Amino acid sequence: MANTQRAQFSSRIGFILAAAGSAIGLGNIWGFPTQTASNGGAVFLFIYLLMVFILAYPLLIAELTIGRYGNANPVRSLSSVAGGHKWLGRLLGLVGMLGATGILSFYAIVAGWLVGFMVSPLLTALGFTETATWLESFSNTRNLVLMLCFMVPTILVVRNGIANGIERWSSRLMPVLFLLFVVMVVYILFQPGAIDGLKMYLIPDMSHLSPSLVVSAMGQAFFSLSLGVCVMMVYGSYLSKSASIPKTAAQVALLDTGIAFTAGLLIMPAMFVAQHNGVAIYSEAGELLSSDTLVFSVLPAMFDTMGSAGLFIGFAFFLLMVIAALTSAISMLEVPVACATEELKQSREKAVWWIGGLITAASAIIVYNFGELFGLVVTVTTEYAQPILGLLFALVAGWLWHRNEILKELVQGSPELGDTWFWKIWPGYVRVICPILMLLVFGWDWV
Ligand code: PHE
Repeated sequence: MANTQRAQFSSRIGFILAAAGSAIGLGNIWGFPTQTASNGGAVFLFIYLLMVFILAYPLLIAELTIGRYGNANPVRSLSSVAGGHKWLGRLLGLVGMLGATGILSFYAIVAGWLVGFMVSPLLTALGFTETATWLESFSNTRNLVLMLCFMVPTILVVRNGIANGIERWSSRLMPVLFLLFVVMVVYILFQPGAIDGLKMYLIPDMSHLSPSLVVSAMGQAFFSLSLGVCVMMVYGSYLSKSASIPKTAAQVALLDTGIAFTAGLLIMPAMFVAQHNGVAIYSEAGELLSSDTLVFSVLPAMFDTMGSAGLFIGFAFFLLMVIAALTSAISMLEVPVACATEELKQSREKAVWWIGGLITAASAIIVYNFGELFGLVVTVTTEYAQPILGLLFALVAGWLWHRNEILKELVQGSPELGDTWFWKIWPGYVRVICPILMLLVFGWDWV
């Protein structure tokens, strides 16, 4: 399209790491383990993997393809693939953008907790025990302060633009995070009680299978891959024409799923180790206690068992997780900012501040109405909005876009695709099979 001056990621690996940076975040270390633990373990894991494979991956390809073709912000990209229904494309772009801002408004709160757990042990070591305890105990003021500590850096990174901001951060730190994970998994598996967690995580107990479990697993898959809220579309618009979309998408999905799986391998055993050491995890009735904050009692309990090394490992872990959350948050903020700079012709600086400010205000409202709003916003945005919007994007592309055009864009950068089965199946699959699958999931739940 006309807009050839747009910034691009400077290398394919840079793009993969940035997109993986968006995907890898609280969804992996907080959302996935919490959902797995509250939904009976292995069954959730398997349904989740299935959802990633049959729904999230094909729709990830769709979002990247639309974005790269449009080479613009999502509002414009969607309208350029919507054939004669440009208004519909614009509308979906706007709703997706709202979704991204809604997610960021609760995301910043949880990420703030990570910041708290990162600095608290250091403060204890330095003798500021009171502040340290305050940082770890749930209160509105503490949630607000920590949320701000997270939002301000997010805004500053997005202000610096994609190559300087997003790419530089993501590419260096994700590999370190993965290594640290492996070390922690090995450690936890040797602790008393760990095997019970491992069993729950890997041996399915079919009695837990329910329609709401499947809906949650679908939502979690979309959340974890950053789908349905135009994030991957914006990133697609920065992707070079010589990159293979199906391959790139597969790498991103594999990295993200690998990290989620490893996080489960850490948290599930860690829960049972913590329980073994006297931390209450499940109620008498088998319900997870304080599920939102579960990870935040289990992990510090684990670091405590590590002696003095625990202080260092705990700090490194929370620091890397804060950065992983930051690379996700900047991808969410980038969506409305890209729209405002291109559609309203505002400077990046200006757009970042007013949009970031509005999201921070929304976040503060959630903080002060935590009981009523937090769970509601999480469910509405991740369980419903993300899968449904993700599907609608693909349907717009699948039904309204000219078939030859979509195939041409998909195959750009991957000439080897030309005569494989993948390219013959994919368009029909997202047009017909994906909507049927999603209807089945929601339909089963409603019945
Ligand atoms: N995928 C991110 C995570 O797992 C969250 C996210 C959702 C990011 C939607 C962007 C858009 O933490």
